[in-house]
Amino acid sequence: MKVSPSLLAADFSNLSKEIAKINSSEADYLHLDVMDGVYVPNISFGFPVMEAVSRISEKPLDVHLMTVEPQKWVNRVRDIGAEFMNVHVEACRHLDRTVYSIHQAGMKAGVTLNPATPVSMLVDIISELDLVLLMSVNPGFGGQPFIMNTLKKVRELKELRSKSGSKAFIEIDGGVNETTGKLLAEAGADILVAGSFVFNSDNPKERIDILKSL
Ligand code: DX5
Ligand code: ZN
Repeated sequence: MKVSPSLLAADFSNLSKEIAKINSSEADYLHLDVMDGVYVPNISFGFPVMEAVSRISEKPLDVHLMTVEPQKWVNRVRDIGAEFMNVHVEACRHLDRTVYSIHQAGMKAGVTLNPATPVSMLVDIISELDLVLLMSVNPGFGGQPFIMNTLKKVRELKELRSKSGSKAFIEIDGGVNETTGKLLAEAGADILVAGSFVFNSDNPKERIDILKSL
């Protein structure tokens, strides 16, 4: 299993120390949650913080934009050297155009679905995607309980992916821990995002290893 720890649950008063823990772990990516207070009812951090993080992170950045009009930020996300730029399907008026611009900027394109958005929304775009991010909580906050219906969506997405010949990773975000992670692994997830499970621990590296082994 690939693991993308979410910095949202880190101690923001000590970011360099928190990132050093991830650098020395087996994590595959570092997940960055951008919230604008409009698309979601919370504000997290923006480009000045992500620029600083990108200077010290040794892990590829997995940027999750919970903003309206995410297409505005393609070049800024590229400038911090992100590997993945994830945009919400519900926030994009012209999703195909946005995915095209993410690729033109040299990044991998991820499309995110909220818990109530069906997998079928991706039928005509999945072959263009590098990643699909399924929200297993309503976006905006860390530490919420996992929505079990996500397991069904992972199975549906896996089927859609094989039918379409797409190679998109299936990534899950929200309420991931050892128990829900195991269910997600069985359902067919490729990457697990985990905030509280990793950072609300005295030993984040061990928590990452637990998820890696699933
Ligand atoms: C929620 C964010 C998540 C969040 C997950 O809107 O997209 O990435 O950090 O946090 P946990 O793992 O605590 O549910
Ligand atoms: Zn996220």
